[in-house]
Amino acid sequence: MVEATTYKPRKFNLTGLNGISDKTLAMHFKLYEGYVKSVNELNEKIADTLSDGKVDKEEFPAYSELTRRLGFEYNGMVLHEYYFQNLKSHGSGAPDKAFSKAAESSFGSFETWKTDFAGVGKMRGVGWAICYQNPANGKISNHWITLHEIGNVSGFTPILVMDVWEHAFILDYAPADRPKYIDAFFSNVDWSAIQSRLGKKVVEPAA
Ligand SMILES: [Fe+2]
Repeated sequence: MVEATTYKPRKFNLTGLNGISDKTLAMHFKLYEGYVKSVNELNEKIADTLSDGKVDKEEFPAYSELTRRLGFEYNGMVLHEYYFQNLKSHGSGAPDKAFSKAAESSFGSFETWKTDFAGVGKMRGVGWAICYQNPANGKISNHWITLHEIGNVSGFTPILVMDVWEHAFILDYAPADRPKYIDAFFSNVDWSAIQSRLGKKVVEPAA
């Protein structure tokens, strides 16, 4: 008997953001809950297959397809949690010192880091912009993630996560106005959440 791992959707106390409507958030929470449901369903189906301790030859094609979907559904669940948790109504002002230091060390300045992060977010395609920290050296880097699962860096810590799928802003902005959504996103960043994700290892900028 294999016990399937199950997840409960988290609740996010998030309303009144700058430029991202409550209607968008309500729709987005539902979408997130769909990912949690899909993760649970996949885990249950895979556990069912493994319940006799083996994967029969005739089960293998279905088992493979279910397993291939794990990356999409798990990352769809987890990235939305990071995203909602790094937002707060009207944001929390300026970035903390530790993040500024990491940005200066990795990009020369906070502004250059921000230009790169926003630039990644404006890239054409369906996905996410994520600022990761490498726990081995404290450096941060910005990455484009296609869909939910292509481009994540194993072992790196997500520090700031921005959803740029059109569903994240289409009720508030036209598709071509993604930069306006990105500006709105930045005005709602909860820098204290970002601070709590940073590892102890933050490289001092070069003197
Ligand atoms: Fe999303």
